Amino acid sequence: MTVPLELPELTPDEAAHSAALVDLARTTIESARGWIDFGEFMNLALYAPGLGYYSAGARKFGAAGDFVTAPEVAPVFSRCLAVQCADVLRELGAEARVLELGAGSGVMAADLLAELERLGALPAEYCILDLSADLRDRQRDTLAERVPHLLARVRWLDGLPETFTGMIVANEVLDALTVERFAIRDGEVNALGVAIESGRLVLREVRAGPRLNAAVRQVEHDTGTALPDGYESELRMGLAPWLQSIAECLDRGVLLFIDYGLPRREYYTAERSRGTLLCHFRHRFHDDALVRVGLQDITAWVDFTAVAAAAQQAGCEIAGYTTQAHFLIGCGLGDFVANVEGLDLVQRLNLSRQAMMLTLPGEMGERFKVIALGRNFDAPLRGFAVRDLRHTL
Ligand SMILES: C[S@@+](CC[C@H](N)C(=O)[O-])C[C@H]1O[C@@H](n2cnc3c(N)ncnc32)[C@H](O)[C@@H]1O
Repeated sequence: MTVPLELPELTPDEAAHSAALVDLARTTIESARGWIDFGEFMNLALYAPGLGYYSAGARKFGAAGDFVTAPEVAPVFSRCLAVQCADVLRELGAEARVLELGAGSGVMAADLLAELERLGALPAEYCILDLSADLRDRQRDTLAERVPHLLARVRWLDGLPETFTGMIVANEVLDALTVERFAIRDGEVNALGVAIESGRLVLREVRAGPRLNAAVRQVEHDTGTALPDGYESELRMGLAPWLQSIAECLDRGVLLFIDYGLPRREYYTAERSRGTLLCHFRHRFHDDALVRVGLQDITAWVDFTAVAAAAQQAGCEIAGYTTQAHFLIGCGLGDFVANVEGLDLVQRLNLSRQAMMLTLPGEMGERFKVIALGRNFDAPLRGFAVRDLRHTL
């Protein structure tokens, strides 16, 4: 895939912002003797303080931003999620809290809290942990506007709590964790990274180090096939330590990740021989991470087998894995759509449209999956009662 010609032009401010981040990348590459791995580049592009896509002030979400997420466009998504949260909170008792990782604009937090209140299951505290200081401000504004009476229950954390009992939720956060890119050349594993040529950022390959090499060989082992020459893809090398740190603080409860992705055997196939990396810029997508640096989102699909393996290593159980469609149906999406009392025709149509977008296979219904990881938590989770896909992991 190449950069589509119709990518919108940058304003002078945007161009200056991106140039500043490219300068930072250039300095970093020079001090690393001419090459950094893709994960380090992605980390700069997304999270460099004051400059990275998530750290700085780009609009990001919604029609005026670069992409939309389910809670942004379909409030019924968060209402269904609240039903699952309420079960877990009730099971765990008064000390149970909610922790949302990567809360974006804060819309999901506001809708979840409002629904939990309706269900009589408000947690004592709703904590938010986000890498982006800019987004924290936006989250606070959203919550103050939509659920001002619940704002006092919301607490922003600077790091993971020492101990936590409750429900941890993260929508579209796994896909934003950095990835390492690799390519198979003459049967060997190369690492794709970023270098400078004639003053410009370029993708360059070096022979992979032992960690990346071993991880790629593990993929071949797990899928039962040798990846062919020319095959390019990505691996989230930081996933296991990240999950480990979250699992360590979870005393009792459930971690729920929602994201687009596949089990490993379906991920690393010929169909995806150029990997799944995608950049989002004003609702256009392409695969060139070296343009519009700091102004576009960079993501890759989630290997849910890797999530499950890392979680088990960290002492969690896989409490459920299914498609977003089946999860939402299990949480009562049908009831929300059927119970239209008090809604006018436009509102009803809007609700049906939301339900279709969230569940149809060609929309978000199958591309997005939900995985639940439990720790000292045995109760069944209703979101996984309709269809259990754990055997595919
Ligand atoms: C694609 S956005 C999703 C936002 C929101 N959950 C939604 O569904 O609209 C990714 C979010 O994850 C945050 N993020 C990325 N890595 C993170 C990490 N390691 N810990 C916490 N938040 C993170 C970003 O700052 C951003 O808020």
